[in-house]
Amino acid sequence: MALKSTDARWGGIARSFHWLIFALILVAGTVGLIMVELPKRPNIIPVYSFHKSVGLTVLALAVLRLLWRLFDRRPREPAMPAWQRWASRLVHGALYALIFAIPLSGWLFDSAGGLRPLHWFGLFEVPKLVAPDGDIKDIAETLHEALFWVLAAAVVLHVGGALKHHFIDRDEVLARMLPWRTRRLRPLATEAERPPPPPIA
Ligand code: HEM
Ligand code: HEM
Repeated sequence: MALKSTDARWGGIARSFHWLIFALILVAGTVGLIMVELPKRPNIIPVYSFHKSVGLTVLALAVLRLLWRLFDRRPREPAMPAWQRWASRLVHGALYALIFAIPLSGWLFDSAGGLRPLHWFGLFEVPKLVAPDGDIKDIAETLHEALFWVLAAAVVLHVGGALKHHFIDRDEVLARMLPWRTRRLRPLATEAERPPPPPIA
C-alpha cells in the first residue's frame, strides 16, 4: 500500500487519518449526545471522561493530519464547474477547522468549568487551558454544541458531494479515498482533456 498520495489516489496515511478521525468523531458525537441526557449522578463521570479522551484523540490526530498534509501531495482535482470546485474547497476547509474547533471548545469548557482533573483514558493528566471562569465556560459550552451541529451540516454536504461523484459523475473521487480497492471507474479528466460538448442540432 502506497503511504504517500499520488496523482490518482489518496495514500494510506491520508486515508487512515480520514477514516480514523471520522470513526472517532462518530463515537464522541454519539456518546456526547447521550451523556448530556443522563441523570447527573457520580456514575456518569467515566462516560464524560471517555467522551473527553476520545475528543482529545481527535484533536491530536487533526494536528498530525494537517502536518502530514504539508508533506503529502493532493490527488488531481476532477474537472467540474468553478462553483463546485470552490464549494468543495470551502467545505473541506470548514471540516478541517471544525475538527480542531470542536475538541478545543470542549477542552476549554472542561477547563473553565473548574471540573475535576481530566486523565486521558486514565493514563496521564491533561492540563487545564484556563483558570475556572463562568463566562468562558458558558461561551465554550454554547460553541461546543453549536459547532457540532455545524459539523453535522457540513458532513451532509460533504457526503452528498462524494455520492454525486460516485453515482452521477461515476468518477473515482470517492473510490480513491475508500480504505479498500474498488473496481475501476472513469478516471478523472482535467479540464483540458474533457471532450467538447456535442454540437447543438
Ligand atoms: C471531536 C470531538 C468532540 C465531539 C464531536 C463532541 C461532541 C459533543 C456533543 C454532541 C455534545 C452534546 C452537546 C449537547 O447536546 O449539549 C458534547 C458535550 C460535551 N463535551 Fe464534547 N465533543 C468532542 C470533544 C470534547 C472534548 C475534547 C471535551 C473536553 C476535553 C469535551 C467535553 C464535553 C463536555 C464537558 C460536554 C457536556 C456539555 C454540557 O454539559 O452541556 N468534548 N460533546
Ligand atoms: C466527520 C466526518 C468527516 C470529516 C471531518 C471529513 C473530512 C474531510 C476532509 C477535511 C477532506 C479533505 C482532505 C484534504 O484535502 O486533505 C475530506 C476528503 C474526502 N472525504 Fe471526508 N470527512 C468526513 C466524512 C466523510 C464521509 C462519511 C465520506 C464518504 C461518504 C467522505 C468522503 C470523502 C472523500 C471522497 C474525500 C476526497 C475528496 C477529494 O478527493 O477531493 N468523508 N474529508
